[in-house]
Amino acid sequence: MASGINQDSRPDGAFPEAVGKDEPLQGLPERTASPSARTMTERGLVGLTADRALVSAFKQMQLEKDAQKNWDLFYKRNTTNFFKDRHWTSREFEELRACREFDSQRLVLLEAGCGRHPLYLPERCSAFQCDLTKDDLRDRVPEASVDVVTLIFVLSAIHPDKMGSALENIWKVVKPGGLVLFRDYGLRDHAMLRFKPGNKLGANFYVRQDGTRSYFFSKELLAELFAGAGFHLVSNDYVLRETVNKKEGLCVPRVFLQSKFTKPARDPDHSSSRCSGT
Ligand SMILES: C[S@@+](CC[C@H](N)C(=O)[O-])C[C@H]1O[C@@H](n2cnc3c(N)ncnc32)[C@H](O)[C@@H]1O
Repeated sequence: MASGINQDSRPDGAFPEAVGKDEPLQGLPERTASPSARTMTERGLVGLTADRALVSAFKQMQLEKDAQKNWDLFYKRNTTNFFKDRHWTSREFEELRACREFDSQRLVLLEAGCGRHPLYLPERCSAFQCDLTKDDLRDRVPEASVDVVTLIFVLSAIHPDKMGSALENIWKVVKPGGLVLFRDYGLRDHAMLRFKPGNKLGANFYVRQDGTRSYFFSKELLAELFAGAGFHLVSNDYVLRETVNKKEGLCVPRVFLQSKFTKPARDPDHSSSRCSGT
């Protein structure tokens, strides 16, 4: 559950998936897909309605207790294969690109839930461990000091009941006028449709075989969560991708949600510049 303060950016949308399966279908993104991709989706939808049983309350408590341990084990098992390409973040988030292009433009960036793979040169980065749902970020990061927070495939790993408090924690360290850049799993992503019965924890919330959990977001829910913590919406859109597995002849439709939120400036006449300072 590491976080890092950096002056750079992050990885492409596809976090590895162990298993799959799920449910309700509000806010469904429009999709243009190849026939094979569509076939996969329809199969998934049949599964969604079939799987109503939830993992027991006892098992769910255990999963919450072991959340950090299960991520640590995940990173032990997956040492080198994932998270190699970090360039997509600059492509997708212009704020990160702009701040990279000019040496004089530095920003304080908090990469929340960056995992165990260092993405930044050590001299530009200070890494620390933090549970966003329990530890006050201000113990490590000065209040209202961060220009940009990245929250990439992290909120989905947090229990829905605790997502709000994680965002409130982040709010405290963001500068007025600062941004949160968000990307995560969208409702009806292929990973969601693949979950088998017995993996469902709640609405749009699943556990993988390795004990790590994943929530699948609708635009509406995400906007509500951020608004609840005091953020203003800048953008909030589904991103549709297709992953082609030529060997297996499969075209897999992916749905991500990519969004930006800002902490409103206290005084509109003196709002801070996002890409200045050090
Ligand atoms: C799917 S991985 C994504 C890692 C990284 N952001 C990436 O995109 O490669 C989810 C990450 O969220 C972290 N995480 C889960 N719950 C957390 C929490 N309560 N506080 C901080 N980090 C958490 C995990 O440790 C893990 O590194």
